[in-house]
Amino acid sequence: MRRTTTRSGRERTGGERAALEAAYEECRRLVRATRPTEHALMALMPPSAQPVCWALYAAFGHADDLLDRSEEAPDERGRGLREWRAALEADLASGTSDDPIRLALTDAVWHWGLDLADLLAALDAVQRDDDRESVATWREWRERAHAQNVSWPEQLMRMLVRSGLPVPVRLRDLPGFTRFVEGLFLTDMLRDLPEDLDGGHVWLPTEVLDRFHVTPADLLSRRWTPAVQQLIAHLVGEARTWLESSRRALRATLPLGPAIVLDTTVDLFGAELDAILRAGPAVLRRQVRVPGHTRLRILGPARARAAVVWRLTLPQAATAPARTRTVDRTDGPLAEGPADPGLLTTTRITDPPLPPRPHRDGARPPEIAPAHLPHHVAIVMDGNGRWATRNGLPRDEGHRAGAVALRDVVQGALEIGLAHLTVYAFSTENWKRSPDEVSKLFAIMRAELLDGELLDHDVRLRWIGSPDGLPDDVVDVLRSQEHATRNRTGLTLNVCVNYGGRAELARAGASLARAALAGEVDPARVSEQLFAAHLPHHALPDVDLLWRTSGELRVSNFLPWHAHYAELHFTDQAWPDVDRQDLWHALETYTQRKRRKGGRVAE
Ligand code: FPP
Repeated sequence: MRRTTTRSGRERTGGERAALEAAYEECRRLVRATRPTEHALMALMPPSAQPVCWALYAAFGHADDLLDRSEEAPDERGRGLREWRAALEADLASGTSDDPIRLALTDAVWHWGLDLADLLAALDAVQRDDDRESVATWREWRERAHAQNVSWPEQLMRMLVRSGLPVPVRLRDLPGFTRFVEGLFLTDMLRDLPEDLDGGHVWLPTEVLDRFHVTPADLLSRRWTPAVQQLIAHLVGEARTWLESSRRALRATLPLGPAIVLDTTVDLFGAELDAILRAGPAVLRRQVRVPGHTRLRILGPARARAAVVWRLTLPQAATAPARTRTVDRTDGPLAEGPADPGLLTTTRITDPPLPPRPHRDGARPPEIAPAHLPHHVAIVMDGNGRWATRNGLPRDEGHRAGAVALRDVVQGALEIGLAHLTVYAFSTENWKRSPDEVSKLFAIMRAELLDGELLDHDVRLRWIGSPDGLPDDVVDVLRSQEHATRNRTGLTLNVCVNYGGRAELARAGASLARAALAGEVDPARVSEQLFAAHLPHHALPDVDLLWRTSGELRVSNFLPWHAHYAELHFTDQAWPDVDRQDLWHALETYTQRKRRKGGRVAE
C-alpha cells in the first residue's frame, strides 16, 4: 500500500502507516471470514483496488451486522448503527479514526475521491431496515435492493477510472445493471436466510410468500413443507434468470477487466444457487457453501485472465491521486455567474487544481526555454486499434489504453509549461467505424472527462468539432466541462470530437458568403485574417508542431488551416504505448528545426 500522506497532505508517521495497513488487513479478514465468495471476487480486481473493496464491503457488512444483532433489543440495534454512522461522518470530516473499519473507509474515501454523499445514503438505506417489519411487494423489495447496493460497485468503478481505466461510473444507467444487483441481492438473501430467520426477519416480499401459500411463521419455524420447497425453487430460478439476462446485457457495455469480474460473479453466484437447491431443508438452518472444487474451477482461469487483462489495460504503477476538494461547477469559485441552464450534466471539478502528477519512474522534463517551446502542439493519436489487436484485445480496449496515454501526455505538457495541446479524438470520417466501436469510444471519452484525472489539473478544456450527429450526452459533457474549466489558466486542451478540417473550411466559406450577401463583407477585401475570423474556432492559435503516432505519414484532414506551417513529427509507436517522455522528445526535436516559413532562417 503506497498511501503515505494524510488528508492534509502531511507525510504519515511510521505508526500511522502501520495502523492503516492493519485497518485494511482487518477489513480483508472480516470479508474473507464472512463472505468468502465476495472475497474471492475482489481478488479479481486490480491489486491497487482490492483494499478499497475490502474497506467498502467490511463497512456495509458491519452496518448490516449491527442491525442484525439478534441478542439485543430492537431499539438498541438501531442505536448501535446510528452511533456508528455518526462516528463515521466525524471520522470522514477529520480524515482519521480509531476504529479499523472506519479508518480504512475514511482513507479510501478521501484518497480515491469516492462519492461520500452517495455512500452515506446507501448506509442510510441499510439503517431504514430498522423501522421495517417486512417487505410487501417486489417493487418495494427492488427499491430496497437498489438503495443499499448500487452505490458501492459504482464507487469501485470510480476508482478504476482514477487508476487509469476509463470505465462507465454510473452503472445504474447501464442496461441490465439493476437486474444484476437484484440477482445478487436475492442470492445473498437466500444464502443468508438462516441468519435473517435467527434475527426474526423475513425480507422476502409478502406477495411472493402469498403466491406460494407460505407464511412468515412457516419460515421462522423452519418448516420444510412442499410449499416452502416450491418457493425456494422459484426464487432460485428467478435469481438465476436475472443474473444471466443481466450478464448478456452488461457484457456488451463493459470493458474486458470489469467484464471478467462480472462473468465470474454470475458463475459463482450461479454455483451458490445450485448449492442452495441441493441443500434442501438445510437452506433454512445453515449457510450453504459452494464446494471447494467448483470454486476453484470457476476462479482459477478467471484469476489468470484478470491478471493478464489488468496488466495490459491499466497503467503499471496505478496509484490513486491525492485528492483535493471537488466542487460543483455551479457553486465553486471557478464558476462565475449562473451556470448555463442548457447543460444537463452536473460536473465536479477539483479546486484548486492539482499539481501535475509525477512520472511513474520519476522522469523530469528537459530544460527548454519558454521562448523555444512550441506554443501549440497538435497530435493525431493513431494506432489504438492495432495496439489492441496485437495484444489480443477488442478495439475499444485500445481506445481505453489510448485515453490513459493521453492522461500521461497531458501531465507532461503541464510539467513543461505548454500552452496549447490539441488532440484528434474523433474525426468526421470515424463514423465509418462499427456503431459498437463508436459508442464505446464515446463512452470512454465521457467517463474520462467526467471522472478521469484530466480535469483534476490546471487544464482548460475546449471542444473543437460539430454537434451534428453526436449523442446528446457527449455534447452535454463536452459543453459542461468547457464551461466548468473556462477560467483555468494552465494548459488549454483542445479535443477534436466530430471534427473534419475541410468541413471547417467550408463552414468558414459559408459564413463569409452569408456576410457578403448581407452586405457586411466586401468580397474584394477578403483577406486571410478575415477568412480566419470566420472559422468556427478562430481563437485557436496556429499549430507549431504536428505529431502523429503509429508510423502513418498523413495529416488526415486535421487542422488544415491552423497547421499550414506546422513542423511535422512522425513516430512509430502506437498511441497507447506513448507517455509524456515521448512528448518531451518531440518538443526537443522541434527546438532543433529551422523554421523558415518561406523566408530566411532566423539567426
Ligand atoms: C485512432 O486509432 C484513435 C481514435 C480514433 C480515438 C482516439 C481517442 C482517444 C485516445 C480517447 C481520447 C479521450 C478524450 C477524453 C479526449 P485507430 O483506432 O484509428 O487505430 P488503428 O489505426 O490502429 O485502427
